[in-house]
Amino acid sequence: PHAPILFSFPNTDAIVGGLASFILKAQKESLDKKGRFTIALSGGSLPKMLSGLIGNPAVKWDKWHVYYADERVVPLDHPDSNHLACTNVLLSKVPIPASHIHTIDTDLLNDIEELCDAYEKELIREFAQKDAARFPVFDLILLGMGPDGHTVSLFPGHELLAEDDRWVAYIEDSPKPPAKRITFTFPVINHAARVAFVAHGEEKQDVLSEVLDNPETGLPAARVRPAHPGQLYWFVDDAAAAKVKYP
Ligand code: 6PG
Repeated sequence: PHAPILFSFPNTDAIVGGLASFILKAQKESLDKKGRFTIALSGGSLPKMLSGLIGNPAVKWDKWHVYYADERVVPLDHPDSNHLACTNVLLSKVPIPASHIHTIDTDLLNDIEELCDAYEKELIREFAQKDAARFPVFDLILLGMGPDGHTVSLFPGHELLAEDDRWVAYIEDSPKPPAKRITFTFPVINHAARVAFVAHGEEKQDVLSEVLDNPETGLPAARVRPAHPGQLYWFVDDAAAAKVKYP
């Protein structure tokens, strides 16, 4: 794979601006090629970092198709819902068609296996019919990273790190609450055209240095290495990058 590209900004406002320009460029390349833009979002602090897109006339919201790389198995109006977080800070403020936002099926909240299968089918509807691909190729997947090196709901030492078949998997023992979540697997993340991590703050210093400078230790975030021609980007602030030697 290509080496990751690291962008470090003085503060989170600057990340917001840099990330918005980057997403616009990815959108343009995708629309020029196929007239639609498929993007997957995460939870944590990521949703707030997308506010630079609001009110920007260059964003072609009607061409966006939004998925969740990671979602908590809770109702869509529950405070833990990643969809709720993304809606509150972004999706409710922009003219994106509701049918283009792919949420979990909350009729299935009591059967996590069914809910997970249904979300995988939702991806298959978008991606598999067109090119019968073994794995979907998202135009952009946006990720966060925890201080322990987890990303989406792929946690250090967890058996899901080895999942090489499913597109979407479920977890009932997440060390970060809530316990029940569904998550994209590494094959899906690593088939994307672009993957961008967004991480900020001093609490990410040690883990960011480990992931970029010593990827062989195999923390979940270090296993994100999109296959050629995919490209990995890091959008961080100087506080998070303080201990990084890379590139
Ligand atoms: C989630 C996220 C998770 C998150 C990291 C980093 O829904 O929990 O997808 O993987 O991105 O925990 O979270 P912060 O950005 O809040 O540190």
